[in-house]
Amino acid sequence: MDEGGAILRVAIGADHGGLALKQAVVDRIELLGHSVLDFGAGRLDVEDDYPDYAVRVSRAVNAGVADRGVLLCGSGVGMVLAANRIPGVRACLCHDIYSASQGVSDDGMNVLCLGGRVIGPALAAELVEVFLATRFRDEPRFTRRLDKLRALEDRPDAGA
Ligand code: RB5
Repeated sequence: MDEGGAILRVAIGADHGGLALKQAVVDRIELLGHSVLDFGAGRLDVEDDYPDYAVRVSRAVNAGVADRGVLLCGSGVGMVLAANRIPGVRACLCHDIYSASQGVSDDGMNVLCLGGRVIGPALAAELVEVFLATRFRDEPRFTRRLDKLRALEDRPDAGA
């Protein structure tokens, strides 16, 4: 459960670079009592492409089918690039606990990206736990910044 006691629907996707981390992440999500929506990969395919998984997970978040998303590739970078092209998605690469929490509380991060060639399963599971436990802090300064991000989504030339 998250800090408010809610059970979350968590969409997950991994390409061949992130697949080795996926089961540890799924296990932790389920251990915490949340539900997993698995968008693959179901098996190793060294020719698969990270945008395909990023799009499936991100669309689930955008559509409200999932509350949060977790994306895994080799570095985590490709998943960030692809996921942030889907409206409503705020995807970040966080390999430290502070960012995994603060990214949600202050910035409204709703998709966590991790690099399977950079970190191991224990840290990945901890990062996901913190990510899911944290809620956005509904304070004027944070909602104002989120509104500015949303405005940029609608009109890339908006803002200062
Ligand atoms: C795949 O080989 C690798 O490029 C991908 O998993 C990811 O690291 C991209 O950012």
